[in-house]
Amino acid sequence: MNELPTIADTQDFGRRLGALLRAGDLLVLTGPLGAGKTALTQGIAAGLGVLGDVTSPTFVIARVHRPDPARGGRVALVHADAYRLGDAADPRAEIDDLDLDASLDDAVTVVEWGEGMVEHLVDAHLRVGIDRRDDDTRLIELVPVGGDWADRLAALR
Ligand SMILES: Nc1ncnc2c1ncn2[C@@H]1O[C@H](COP(=O)(O)OP(=O)(O)OP(=O)(O)O)[C@@H](O)[C@H]1O
Ligand SMILES: [Mg+2]
Repeated sequence: MNELPTIADTQDFGRRLGALLRAGDLLVLTGPLGAGKTALTQGIAAGLGVLGDVTSPTFVIARVHRPDPARGGRVALVHADAYRLGDAADPRAEIDDLDLDASLDDAVTVVEWGEGMVEHLVDAHLRVGIDRRDDDTRLIELVPVGGDWADRLAALR
């Protein structure tokens, strides 16, 4: 569990996490509205060295950010936000329509609001929980699920 007092801390944590990531990684971001999932993804994008602003898309559900070789980028970031799929009759079918599995092996995939909908797509994933405390600071918890996530996270601490 790490404390993230400000948005800059959240983005910086994301940047350090992003530097550890590689093609095939799936990150499932959980936490309430406004927790900082997109802010963390902005940092991850910086750590990966990908192009384009990471935003909370209103209509687009998944966006591909291509690597920027000038900033050492080697792998694309697929940023998905499944919030709007939560009300669908069959959210998992909607997720399947996004075709995330077509890019999963070649990209880093970060999904907001995807808990319970995307984990079946890969053998291992990193679950990232962000919580908002009463004083408005955030707490982040990384839960390695399978693979070599636990070993890789040791480098973060
Ligand atoms: N420590 C912090 N870390 C991240 N964001 C913070 C922090 N403190 C305040 N904020 C504010 O909280 C908001 C987080 O917004 P963000 O879009 O990243 O949340 P989100 O979890 O993606 O929300 P949503 O569920 O709507 O997608 C921003 O307005 C940011 O300025
Ligand atoms: Mg968001």
